[in-house]
Amino acid sequence: MCEPRLEGKVALITGAASGIGESTARLFTKHGAKVVIADIQDDLGKKVCKELGQSSASFVQCDVTKESDIETAVNTVVAKYGKLDIMHNNAGIGGIANPNILENEKSEFENIISVNLLGPFLGAKHAVRIMIPNRGGTIITTASTCSTIGSVASHAYTSSKHGCWD
Ligand SMILES: NC(=O)c1ccc[n+]([C@@H]2O[C@H](COP(=O)([O-])OP(=O)(O)OC[C@H]3O[C@@H](n4cnc5c(N)ncnc54)[C@H](O)[C@@H]3O)[C@@H](O)[C@H]2O)c1
Repeated sequence: MCEPRLEGKVALITGAASGIGESTARLFTKHGAKVVIADIQDDLGKKVCKELGQSSASFVQCDVTKESDIETAVNTVVAKYGKLDIMHNNAGIGGIANPNILENEKSEFENIISVNLLGPFLGAKHAVRIMIPNRGGTIITTASTCSTIGSVASHAYTSSKHGCWD
């Protein structure tokens, strides 16, 4: 393996119980980072942490659409490690892609926007609460090709990823 690139770093990754977030957690720990997985899937998140080892990874139950959950997740990281170097806003949902807008429900649109756009906003807000006084940190938000290409995914998903920043 190449030289570890995240030795001594502390990362909070949302939506890391599966998929891209889980892979990121595995990669980050391989590179020496301490990782806290924040997800709504408790059993899966804890299973991933167990596989990564208790000294490298831990789990916090967190729905990214709830500000109190994000606040608690960030506070948990700081209580455990004393800092937060990397905030990875990764949790995301796609919804059903139906190009006929008349068949799209407002509640489904709001749900996707809440997870994919409000979630990263809250993640960034509470991460900088720690990062500004510490004068450093990195905030990553998982984007998508849908941020530049329309009509591939649901209206809500495309809108939410268009709103992601880098
Ligand atoms: N899979 C792709 O092809 C692809 C492509 C581009 C971007 N993305 C983006 O990558 C990110 C991860 O997607 P994935 O493909 O790994 O999906 P996934 O479904 O495998 O993982 C998403 C994770 O987010 C969690 N999650 C869902 N809602 C949540 C909430 N409210 N609070 C906390 N956690 C929540 C889920 O439990 C799950 O563990 C998303 O932001 C997605 O939009 C995926």
